[in-house]
Amino acid sequence: MELKVLTQEEINEVVSNEIIELINNSSKCVLGLATGSTPLGVYKKLVEAYQTNEVSFENVESFNLDEYVGLDSTNNQSYRYFMDHNLFNHINIDINKTYIPSDKETSENYYKRYDDKIENHGGIDIQILGIGSNGHIAFNEPGTSFDSLTHIVSLKESTIKDNSRFFNSIDEVPTRAISMGLKSIMNAKRIILIAFGKNKQEAIRCLFEEEANENLPASILKSHPNVTIYCDKEASSLLKINA
Ligand code: PGA
Repeated sequence: MELKVLTQEEINEVVSNEIIELINNSSKCVLGLATGSTPLGVYKKLVEAYQTNEVSFENVESFNLDEYVGLDSTNNQSYRYFMDHNLFNHINIDINKTYIPSDKETSENYYKRYDDKIENHGGIDIQILGIGSNGHIAFNEPGTSFDSLTHIVSLKESTIKDNSRFFNSIDEVPTRAISMGLKSIMNAKRIILIAFGKNKQEAIRCLFEEEANENLPASILKSHPNVTIYCDKEASSLLKINA
């Protein structure tokens, strides 16, 4: 894992530039996208680049990491709503080629089919990740098997508490989600994990100081050949090593 400590503005710039370069140099490109507050600056830069004709999303497809169970796509807390409003509605991506896992799919094979679909589309070229304060990636909470594929998860108390800032009250936060698994994420060709702020400093410290273990889901990334971890100063402040 490569570590880069930069300002938030620099990280948004560097990561969006890498995505733009990949799109401009490929006939077709598959992005792995994340929700939450962390990737918002990158999405803003991608929208700006589209508006100034630096990039076209015509030949881009996307797969999102996760979605809450029980929230309709019109619910402003759903991740479909988040992606439409923060990115898809502002660029020329074909909305039918933006995939988000959904609990509306009733086939018992659905979860496997989400992973199969990613594979059938050529696999994810760049996966963007945030990290939870408890070390989760996507909604893979501590204790999730490193062999997991897309599955339904029960959210931990710490995640419900972290995410309650987006809701009117903690009681409104869904307790279950559908999430790509850790193995699904590891199948991406390139992975970029971004961590901003003090709330992430302990998770980042553990990520660099602990051996890979299932109590720290992000630690699976240690065995991926092409990962960059971008941290701002606050998120990296407990690290002995520095970039
Ligand atoms: P955040 O969430 O970007 O809102 O901090 C990240 C995560 O929980 O994975």
